[in-house]
Amino acid sequence: MMKLFEAISIICLLVVVTEAANNGVARTPPLGWMSWERFRCNTDCVTYPDSCISEKLIMQMADHMAADGYKDVGYEYICIDDCWPLKTRGADGRLVPDPARFPSGMKALADYVHSKGLKIGIYTDFGHSTCGGYPGSEFYLETDANTFAEWEMDMLKLDVCFSSSADFKYGFPAMEFYLNRTGRQFVFSCEWDWGMGDGANYTHMAEFCNLWRVAHDMEDYWDNVQLVIDVYANNSRNFSDFTGPGAWADADSVIVGLYGLSADQERAHFGMWSMFASPLLLGADLRSIKNESKALLQNKNILAINQDPLGRQATLKMKLAQNKIYVFLKGLTGGRTAIALFNSDYHGQPVRATFMLNQLGLTNGNGYSFTDGFTGMARGKYMPATEINIDVNPTGIDIFIATPV
Ligand SMILES: *[C@@H]1O[C@H](CO)[C@@H](O)[C@H](O)[C@H]1NC(C)=O
Ligand SMILES: *[C@@H]1O[C@H](CO)[C@@H](O)[C@H](O)[C@H]1NC(C)=O
Ligand SMILES: *[C@@H]1O[C@H](CO)[C@@H](O)[C@H](O)[C@H]1NC(C)=O
Ligand SMILES: *[C@@H]1O[C@H](CO)[C@@H](O)[C@H](O)[C@H]1NC(C)=O
Ligand SMILES: *[C@@H]1O[C@H](CO)[C@@H](O)[C@H](O)[C@H]1NC(C)=O
Repeated sequence: MMKLFEAISIICLLVVVTEAANNGVARTPPLGWMSWERFRCNTDCVTYPDSCISEKLIMQMADHMAADGYKDVGYEYICIDDCWPLKTRGADGRLVPDPARFPSGMKALADYVHSKGLKIGIYTDFGHSTCGGYPGSEFYLETDANTFAEWEMDMLKLDVCFSSSADFKYGFPAMEFYLNRTGRQFVFSCEWDWGMGDGANYTHMAEFCNLWRVAHDMEDYWDNVQLVIDVYANNSRNFSDFTGPGAWADADSVIVGLYGLSADQERAHFGMWSMFASPLLLGADLRSIKNESKALLQNKNILAINQDPLGRQATLKMKLAQNKIYVFLKGLTGGRTAIALFNSDYHGQPVRATFMLNQLGLTNGNGYSFTDGFTGMARGKYMPATEINIDVNPTGIDIFIATPV
């Protein structure tokens, strides 16, 4: 429960604060890295000196992001997820980074990340404790906003473990207000929607949050990727309509380069997250990632689909081949359309997609020139009523950019 005066002050704030999605940041989906997917809540730096949540880990990821080509293609945010503080707040009520794991302190860590030309994100929880059992921000929203601003953080993920969903519509706007009042720009990532099942009001959320999760947590196996794609295919309550510059539905971390996916599945996962205009927060260990996975993550053609300034989220247009092939469309600048043919089938042979562009609503009289979404290579010219046949690998994808001629 919130303190009464906080609830009252929030009611006043709602009149003043109109648009967090107008806070000037995340005009395209944020690109970066986040600690959770691979490093979880590992705090044992004695047994696991190279993979515990620590300043050393964060600095190494920043080093690799800056030096290995990621920064050059637009990756920017290095985000610390749960399990960074001590289990109790300091005497002044502030969160305290675990001094054994963050001996230099958070401001010094932010300075280091900034010195690489990158930005840094931090995590807290709206409830009385975080999912990992660390102190939550309930009753401390203002203190924590001020602390994160003093540390010069650039992004905040606000989780919802151990909180009441009835408070979200007051609490998330309150945190946005306190962040705004620090004068420091934050990308504000809310677990508001996820915490409420189907209950959240997207209009309200998009006013106060730059990112909101729409599906379950990503885990390192294919079925999980398929399930998230199905959530976007369903597009329940048309959640795609609320995505745009400054306000993004978040499909959760990118697991390319972890353990669970084949090369085709990595392509399908990364291709679809890009079509969805989801933030792309990488989960892999950048120190040891496979070359193929790294090349995919740095594919400029696919990243351009994700980062297209219109900020549209792909929606399902139709299913083909006994519902095995999902056809998603994403409107791009210049009147172009990205067409994804995602094959949800896992039997060991490619599935043929047969369609005409006019079935997709692409009816330009002079037809369309196609380029491959991954390679950028020309892939022919098609009239609206020409039959197109494409064989798509099992749990794989093909993406084409159709440009009106
Ligand atoms: C604070 O909110 C106002 C009003 O929406 C906005 O113009 C301003 O850019 C915000 N400032 C920051 C630092 O986010
Ligand atoms: C959703 O939020 C918007 C903006 O805050 C508000 O105008 C609208 O009434 C809300 N809708 C519902 C169904 O609560
Ligand atoms: C898609 O929507 C249907 C009908 O509302 C529902 O039964 C199903 O669980 C949904 N699937 C996902 C993955 O959201
Ligand atoms: C979703 O959008 C479609 C097409 O614009 C519309 O027909 C439908 O009523 C919308 N559904 C909801 C729940 O808003
Ligand atoms: C990966 O790429 C690096 C740098 O281009 C190269 O030195 C290395 O041999 C490659 N590794 C494999 C397994 O291909």
